[in-house]
Amino acid sequence: MSRSDASAVPVAPPVEFQETRPLPPAVAALRDLIHRRLIEELDQQRLAGLPAGAARRAVGDAAGQILAASPQTAVGEWRQQILDELADEVLGFGPLEPLLRDDSVTEIMVNGPEDIWVERGGRLSHSASRFRDRAHIMHVIERIVAPLGRHVDEGSPMVDARLPDGSRVNIVVPPAAPDGPKITLRKFARRRLTHVDLERIGTLTPEATAFLRASVEAELNILVSGGTGTGKTTLLNVLSSFIGLHERVITIEDPVELQLQQPHVVCLEARPPGLEGTRQITQRDLVRNALRMRPDRVIVGEVRGPEAFDMLQAMNTGHDGSISTVHANTPRDAVSRVENMVLMAGYDLPDHAVREQIASAIQLIVQISRLPDGSRRITHVTEVAGIEGQTLLLQDLFLLEVKGRDEAGKLLTRFRPTGLQPQFKERFERAGVPFPSEILRREDWDER
Ligand SMILES: Nc1ncnc2c1ncn2[C@@H]1O[C@H](COP(=O)(O)OP(=O)(O)OP(=O)(O)O)[C@@H](O)[C@H]1O
Ligand SMILES: [Mg+2]
Repeated sequence: MSRSDASAVPVAPPVEFQETRPLPPAVAALRDLIHRRLIEELDQQRLAGLPAGAARRAVGDAAGQILAASPQTAVGEWRQQILDELADEVLGFGPLEPLLRDDSVTEIMVNGPEDIWVERGGRLSHSASRFRDRAHIMHVIERIVAPLGRHVDEGSPMVDARLPDGSRVNIVVPPAAPDGPKITLRKFARRRLTHVDLERIGTLTPEATAFLRASVEAELNILVSGGTGTGKTTLLNVLSSFIGLHERVITIEDPVELQLQQPHVVCLEARPPGLEGTRQITQRDLVRNALRMRPDRVIVGEVRGPEAFDMLQAMNTGHDGSISTVHANTPRDAVSRVENMVLMAGYDLPDHAVREQIASAIQLIVQISRLPDGSRRITHVTEVAGIEGQTLLLQDLFLLEVKGRDEAGKLLTRFRPTGLQPQFKERFERAGVPFPSEILRREDWDER
């Protein structure tokens, strides 16, 4: 197997980060006073037309003048922080801004004005950032949703949105969140993890990578299964990186997250119903449309509903090599989820017919899980081998074994083939891809 590219992607060192301290109450009061004056004095429309850097300077200059004229002189060391916070407030998402700028933060969770959590390197910690009060959180929420033509209020208290930089935001306000507004923000990963990263982290072994790469090249239809935040989208992105450069790839997402590097990629994105009756665009609409766009591959970011029916139909009518993710905790759970989603399409199909469709459409399920020690691992590579009576036949090709724990409490694991040979072997021959039989031979592994 080729590992010559293993050193091609340099791994960025983790960013050391120190959060700024909150302003002392008297200084914070001064900042708020200046903020109110700024809102009166600044021409918001003019600011919106300026490039980001120039707008920040304009706000800084105006705030600096008000500050210089203010009778309070005890701002000293806090001056720059006051100006930064004012610029973040006037131009951006207020207290969220420093956390958005901090590359080590991957998620931001606002539970209350003084109860903000962040995730760094897979670990949650309390942030020093503060909102003034609930109204301040609501103000920032308005700034997030207003440009999208969305509304958050008692009538529609739960909204998904996206920041201009691609970050995903979920918002819940009263009455759905009775003790005040909540924001959950998954930051857009500027650089997605590659297969080299996943091997370094231990999510993939070189053997698993080689097997999955060959499976993508052989145009198997693959389903990545995993729970919330386990790394499904990241793994889908990695699998998609094995698609050939000459292929036309159509991606369907809600919202767009994948970062494919191939030269020939068309991204389609679903859209919820908007204000003034703008029509919803469903993933199902997009899957149907994608099939009229001469795709070599259709990638659905996450199957969640009736589009599963159209996906299976497409896979069964010659659109091979599709890859998708599904929210499920085991390969068995994954196929039953798909079964339920197909039924959502409303064609009143008998269960057996749906299972037959699944059995002939999907060849491989890759299960990713978060282990009790916080690490993410591929736990199963499972073949959908057919149907026996009423039951789909699932055959594990690789399984993760837990061998024990090291002194630091980290789980020691081994990812091993079961020794079983998959039915889909002949698909490799058809696609002209050498079947990686040496990776599947269990005897070789027992000696290690
Ligand atoms: N194998 C991994 N090891 C460590 N961190 C990872 C791994 N895969 C993904 N991550 C990180 O975990 C977070 C969630 O990843 P990702 O979006 O891929 O998960 P997901 O399962 O698709 O989540 P969701 O359920 O919200 O769709 C990201 O911050 C990502 O960088
Ligand atoms: Mg995802």
